[in-house]
Amino acid sequence: MIPTFVSHAAAALLVGSSVVTASYTLDLTSSDSIKDTAATIAYDMMTYYKGNTSGGIPGVLPGPPPNPTWGYYWWESGAMWGTLIDYWHYTGDTSYNNVTAAGIQWQTGQNDDMMPSNWSQSMGNDDQGFWGMTAMTAAETNFQNPTADQPGWLALAQAVFNTQAIRPDNTCNGGLRWQVYPYLTGYDYKNSIANGCFFNLGARLARYTSNDTYAQHAETIWDWVQSVGLMDAEYNIYDGAHIETNCTDINKVQFSYNMGVYLLGAANMYNYTNGSALWQSRVEGLLNQTFNVFFPDNIAYEVACEQKLSCTTDMFSFKAYLTRWLAATTQVAPFTHDLIMPKLAASAQAAALQCNGGDNGRMCGLSWSKGAVWDGTQGVGQQMAAMSTIFVNLLPLQPVAGPLTNSTGGTSIGNSNAGAQSVANPAALKPATTGDRAGAGIITTIILVSATGMFGWMSI
Ligand SMILES: *[C@@H]1O[C@H](CO)[C@@H](O)[C@H](O)[C@H]1NC(C)=O
Ligand SMILES: *[C@@H]1O[C@H](CO)[C@@H](O)[C@H](O)[C@H]1NC(C)=O
Ligand SMILES: *[C@@H]1O[C@H](CO)[C@@H](O)[C@H](O)[C@H]1NC(C)=O
Ligand SMILES: *[C@@H]1O[C@H](CO)[C@@H](O)[C@H](O)[C@H]1NC(C)=O
Ligand SMILES: *[C@@H]1O[C@H](CO)[C@@H](O)[C@H](O)[C@H]1NC(C)=O
Ligand SMILES: *[C@@H]1O[C@H](CO)[C@@H](O)[C@H](O)[C@H]1NC(C)=O
Ligand SMILES: *[C@@H]1O[C@H](CO)[C@@H](O)[C@H](O)[C@H]1NC(C)=O
Ligand SMILES: *[C@@H]1O[C@H](CO)[C@@H](O)[C@H](O)[C@H]1NC(C)=O
Ligand SMILES: *[C@@H]1O[C@H](CO)[C@@H](O)[C@H](O)[C@H]1NC(C)=O
Repeated sequence: MIPTFVSHAAAALLVGSSVVTASYTLDLTSSDSIKDTAATIAYDMMTYYKGNTSGGIPGVLPGPPPNPTWGYYWWESGAMWGTLIDYWHYTGDTSYNNVTAAGIQWQTGQNDDMMPSNWSQSMGNDDQGFWGMTAMTAAETNFQNPTADQPGWLALAQAVFNTQAIRPDNTCNGGLRWQVYPYLTGYDYKNSIANGCFFNLGARLARYTSNDTYAQHAETIWDWVQSVGLMDAEYNIYDGAHIETNCTDINKVQFSYNMGVYLLGAANMYNYTNGSALWQSRVEGLLNQTFNVFFPDNIAYEVACEQKLSCTTDMFSFKAYLTRWLAATTQVAPFTHDLIMPKLAASAQAAALQCNGGDNGRMCGLSWSKGAVWDGTQGVGQQMAAMSTIFVNLLPLQPVAGPLTNSTGGTSIGNSNAGAQSVANPAALKPATTGDRAGAGIITTIILVSATGMFGWMSI
């Protein structure tokens, strides 16, 4: 069943006394309309990328801040390539495939573990994890394979998993720390996204390879996240906690990508276990709370920062992962399809209206709930979120292959020992100067912001 929305008629909206005209007239009953809209948003997103120009570094967006101040952290580039792989997978548009493949391959690092030494000043398990999940998506979609002398997408995902599988320690009874290296600010913080990326990757590797070791690690991490209270009985997922307090000082701010990353992991565990009742109830619980917290009026909403537009650059991108991973959930846990698609349709319709600002008059803001009144913000995160929530609406209109496995046509070359060459002693990578060590990965900014009280009201 295809949800229908007023689309053409919504092109001109009366707001106050002035007419605001929308740039896009998205028709969710038309594949062409969805593809055209997503293609233009993707094009505008890629205007930020300079990695394939002379002097640019392949695979990375400008950044990290403060060079330039509006720049991006390394992880978000990895997340963008994952989005572009899905963009190709849904739409068939190969325009960005080569730049995507080249970008990922440039950033695999000296040991092919998605930890290039250039970025050791800001290497979180979540940063590495996002690149690992992008590699996993490439394997699941049979994205164009690297040449034989390069590690396959599956091997890169396995390297990320293997290097992380040995990192949980006894503080707080288990779990991954946020940062990889002891000299980084945040090494004493155990957070939901770092553990969520590992959980997600483990579940998908189990499904892809049928190797139960990955599933066992995923279960262990899930159990730990629940036992320590980062995920509560209602399936709220909170940001993180410090080891100095035995992880009892839980920062209760909630971000949409945490819901997405655990939901898709749980859906893969559901699929891997041939539809177990346990994982079904976990998927249902996460989905229910995702809708309760992040979909007021059926439109995806970044509850921690959207109202006051106090989002950091990272946060502006979170709805991209939420919406893409909701769509991916429908493929491995089909019973969720009819619950999820109406939310993605309403969000897409709203997001398209919000792409109505900037110099070209069609840059996307974050505030999908504000219709065609652009919120004044623009960036890679906003473009990525809008395009993701739009292209996933091809699902009801045309066949989109579900994620492959090694036994259903996946051709990516794996290496279950990948990552073994990784630097065993991370202190060896410690930079000569520590002046720049707060360079920050995903959530440093949150900790800083939280310390100034901006999110304090949420830390009940
Ligand atoms: C870089 O990639 C973008 C996106 O694919 C493309 O439009 C542009 O022409 C490329 N630039 C160079 C110098 O190859
Ligand atoms: C991608 O690269 C391959 C090999 O170099 C080339 O044949 C193909 O035309 C490129 N595709 C695009 C869309 O640029
Ligand atoms: C690391 O930095 C150097 C110097 O800017 C650059 O040439 C190289 O491409 C970078 N490598 C990665 C993986 O970012
Ligand atoms: C730390 O918390 C765990 C529960 O997460 C508990 O089992 C353990 O006893 C606590 N350790 C200390 C030293 O309080
Ligand atoms: C799922 O079903 C397949 C086929 O019957 C079986 O080989 C596999 O072991 C099952 N997986 C689990 C985790 O029970
Ligand atoms: C959905 O969430 C609401 C609010 O937390 C809760 O009362 C209800 O029991 C949940 N339903 C399911 C099926 O989890
Ligand atoms: C697992 O995923 C496949 C591929 O998307 C799907 O066909 C199958 O129905 C799923 N299994 C269950 C138990 O839902
Ligand atoms: C997939 O499974 C086959 C048969 O078990 C095995 O030979 C092959 O190496 C596997 N491929 C990967 C990428 O692991
Ligand atoms: C399963 O994965 C684990 C962890 O990477 C690895 O040690 C083991 O060799 C794998 N088993 C098989 C049969 O490939």
